[in-house]
Amino acid sequence: MANQKRALITGISGQDGSYLSELLLEKGYEVHGIVRRVAIEDPQHRLSRIHHLLGKVHLHAASLESYPSLMKVVAAVQPDEVYHLAAQSYVSYSFEDEFSTFEVNVNGTHYLLSTCRDLAPKARFYFAGSSEMFGSAPAPQNELTAFRPRSAYGISKVAGYHLTRNYREAYHLHASCGMLYNHESPRRGMEFVTRKISSVAAQIKLGLATEIRLGNPEAKRDWGHAREYVEGMWRMLQQDEPDDYVIATGETHSVREFLECAFGLLGLDPYKYLVLDERFLRPAEVDVLLGDTTKARQRLGWSAKTTFTELVRDMVSSDLNLYSRTGGGEISAAPAGRVLQPTTGK
Ligand code: GDD
Repeated sequence: MANQKRALITGISGQDGSYLSELLLEKGYEVHGIVRRVAIEDPQHRLSRIHHLLGKVHLHAASLESYPSLMKVVAAVQPDEVYHLAAQSYVSYSFEDEFSTFEVNVNGTHYLLSTCRDLAPKARFYFAGSSEMFGSAPAPQNELTAFRPRSAYGISKVAGYHLTRNYREAYHLHASCGMLYNHESPRRGMEFVTRKISSVAAQIKLGLATEIRLGNPEAKRDWGHAREYVEGMWRMLQQDEPDDYVIATGETHSVREFLECAFGLLGLDPYKYLVLDERFLRPAEVDVLLGDTTKARQRLGWSAKTTFTELVRDMVSSDLNLYSRTGGGEISAAPAGRVLQPTTGK
């Protein structure tokens, strides 16, 4: 197709990358994605979220730590739109290894921006910012709220945000930053609290687990559905002018509420199974995240549709299905209480 747009996605194998690929393919884009070499060699395990898209998307081996590898891909693809989603995305792990978090999230973003400026200056650029940038700022937060990050992860995203803005202002890149609040789905990694709860609840229901271990149940998050949030990213890049946007639901719920809702949907009393485990506490917690999405609604015409209960139901019923089919035998789910290694991409 002569006018077919080409998109390049870093982190294509993650939760958001998989939903964004589906959206862009539906819209007729040629979709390219960057993955690590090991993923191409082991698609069964490392590309499970985009299995159904293999053959429809073009995959390129590169890494955010390697500037030349990014240059090679951008030069070859010549993208119209770049969605930079890849990151060390696990807040908790950023306390264990600040250095690799900065290496991937700050330098990796810098390398990609610099590559786009030099090789694809007309490409529109999306940077995956995060509500973790707001950290301990009072709720609700919007685009004008001062950042008060509480982790190396949050700091790395603030740096990525400033890099993105600076490339917009200094080099006139069409570069936008989405400050996305927590967004979940059945494709969410097991290391994040929502999926941990939905998967362990399903396992308890099926007799495959006996307890759930959590850290701080009082933390509050603004949880939306990832499938809807990728639409927000796309809309940002369709605007005449680049800008920064908060993407959220405008509702906040505690981890405890998520737990009660998930177990309640399965007819279980969570307090029979809950074990508070201080290994899952963070040295500095973000207590309340709640996004004010006025700007996204007015400028992008975007708003979240899925309710909290619908989101929890989607995740719990998907996990119930998954564990019923496999009996837990083939699933590499987190055994309750084990701290998982981080993955890249959400
Ligand atoms: N992971 C985890 N595991 N979190 C727990 C647990 C537990 O056992 N128990 C309580 N929590 C609390 C955490 O302390 C945190 O307050 C909250 O649950 C959510 O934790 P996560 O699901 O790990 O997500 P996050 O909020 O730290 O970060 C996610 O959202 C950001 C956007 O705000 C990630 O997706 C980030 O990459 C993203 O930028």
